[in-house]
Amino acid sequence: MLATLPFSLNFAHPLAEWGLLAVGGWALYLGIKAKKTRTGTPEQRKELVPKKFAQRHYLWGSILLAVMTLGTLGGMAVTYLNNGKLFVGPHLLVGLTMTGMIAVAASLSPLMQRGNLIARKAHVGLNMGMLTLFLWQAVSGMEIVNKIWTNR
Ligand code: HEM
Ligand code: HEM
Repeated sequence: MLATLPFSLNFAHPLAEWGLLAVGGWALYLGIKAKKTRTGTPEQRKELVPKKFAQRHYLWGSILLAVMTLGTLGGMAVTYLNNGKLFVGPHLLVGLTMTGMIAVAASLSPLMQRGNLIARKAHVGLNMGMLTLFLWQAVSGMEIVNKIWTNR
């Protein structure tokens, strides 16, 4: 059963994750603009408010949350189907940690919308940490791609 899986399935997760890294950068940009909209001078605010950065950030953040959750489960599914087990290594553990971090950060949305400062700081801290781990995850992920390619 294991041998019947198409080889190309191994590349679905890596490709999706590279796309997701770009989405993460876009969500970061929109978040910074949302902050500028909130804290800028009256003239800056007048120009920024119509661009609805906070709403767009919320939308792209939600997409990031959903696809990252599915990407983690998908990566684990493909690994399990290929090997009949999971490898409890750095890529798995960091991936699970990232998904936990973004989930908790997203759960702070109602508090942030009420203007809670601690929720805002925690949200930004968690997600900045999560994006930093993402860069590392891309490196360890490409090492796995390399291994799969060499052992094909
Ligand atoms: C790449 C990941 C993310 C980064 C770097 C990020 C960063 C930020 C930043 C810098 C702010 C502005 C804070 C301020 O105004 O002081 C913000 C606000 C916010 N973020 Fe995120 N965020 C991310 C993901 C998410 C996700 C996954 C969600 C929810 C699904 C989300 C929902 C929100 C909401 C609701 C606000 C408040 C907007 C407002 O002022 O009304 N963010 N985020
Ligand atoms: C560009 C970035 C990434 C690349 C190139 C990559 C690559 C890979 C590859 C090749 C596998 C093995 C799948 C197979 O056996 O065919 C894998 C597994 C996995 N990936 Fe990624 N990945 C990346 C980012 C991420 C991210 C951001 C997360 C989570 C937030 C994640 C979570 C996982 C998990 C949980 C597994 C299963 C690991 C195991 O059980 O050993 N990956 N990844």
